[in-house]
Amino acid sequence: AAIYQKGLKYQRSPFTFKSLDWESLAAERLSVESKGYVVGNAGTGETARKNRAAFEKWSIVPRRLVATNTFPDLSTEVVGRKFPFPIAIAPVGVQKIFNPDGEIATARAAARERVPYIMSTASSTSIEDVAAANGDGARWYQLYWPSNEHNDITVSILRRAKQNGFSALVVTLDTYILGWRPSDMDNGYNPFLRSDQIGVAVGFTDPVFRAQFKKRHNVEVEENLGAAAAEWTRTVFPGFSHGWDDVKFLQEHFDGPIILKGIQTVADAQKAVEIGVQGIVVSNHGGRQTDGGNSSLGVLPKIVDAVGSKLDVLFDSGVRAGADVAKAMALGAKMCLIGRPYVYGLALGGEEGVSHVLKSLSGDLELTLHLAGVPSASPKDLNRSVLVREDD
Ligand code: FNR
Repeated sequence: AAIYQKGLKYQRSPFTFKSLDWESLAAERLSVESKGYVVGNAGTGETARKNRAAFEKWSIVPRRLVATNTFPDLSTEVVGRKFPFPIAIAPVGVQKIFNPDGEIATARAAARERVPYIMSTASSTSIEDVAAANGDGARWYQLYWPSNEHNDITVSILRRAKQNGFSALVVTLDTYILGWRPSDMDNGYNPFLRSDQIGVAVGFTDPVFRAQFKKRHNVEVEENLGAAAAEWTRTVFPGFSHGWDDVKFLQEHFDGPIILKGIQTVADAQKAVEIGVQGIVVSNHGGRQTDGGNSSLGVLPKIVDAVGSKLDVLFDSGVRAGADVAKAMALGAKMCLIGRPYVYGLALGGEEGVSHVLKSLSGDLELTLHLAGVPSASPKDLNRSVLVREDD
């Protein structure tokens, strides 16, 4: 409500409220390489286009004379904890290529706006520094999972995450190798190998990785950044995936809820229930991994029907507005992860820019629900009765 009322007083924000314009404005500020990295998709971009198009297949049906006396309650419960807004910062790597303050700016904005921060394994800032910037904010750790021969590194990362207040573990299953990304290939660009500029901080600050590197090369990581970056990149993108049985290892070594990110089928969602994780993120990585795929929103209802009562279903890929969050929640998601929009905010204005994006999306969601006569984001109010198929 505060956001909307401020808007009514016509106090100009340094950033636009038109969420679909954030991309082009941010692009003006970025190098060709970092723009290509964030805007780019896998292959022809078919999956990414479908992600966006899927939202317009559903329409919100406004109900009238609903006697709601207050603004909608946007709070949601995920893996046993209550959050004031149903959005989270999606894990995004190497944020220093978008703004020199990188992850520090985003982690601060997330804490300020009371939105959980999910930290990427590919971060250009260390686990310890992100935790300090995030303070008493809610934070989860996203794992790019080294192959079993590097279990000692995995254990070290999980220990650091837990010690630094990352309360849940998000394991990304769709990125054991990077997708076919024409923009980056045209630019000859792999941000993880630009260690001279950004530092692959999670790896370079890891004591186990550092010790092994020194043993192999007889020098510190800092003395041969190129080799260190290449080795770290191979460690966290090993090029093949684990099996379902391997999840047990993570359950044994991380004391907290585990959420599997990148689920797109009912069969895999059921596997997640069988192995006893607490949540899944229905996601196709924003269309950056497999091209020619389905929209992420399209598969959400089936997955919720199959497993929604057994674990928490979170959602991402293509969310750009409050109405998009409302639709995903109405289809059964407990929370939406926001990817590119906050990266554009980071490029436009560091911490303030990320704050603006988070405030905009939650303000927009609040008014959308209010005007649709939906008193809260809880499933008792925000459910499929709020939606119709556009062609119905
Ligand atoms: C990502 N994403 C991602 N996911 C992950 O698990 N670990 C990571 O390090 C990254 N890195 C990353 C970098 C950039 C530049 C982008 C755009 C995305 C995927 C991210 O978490 C999320 O799934 C998508 O961004 C969601 O789609 P939208 O919101 O960007 O459409």
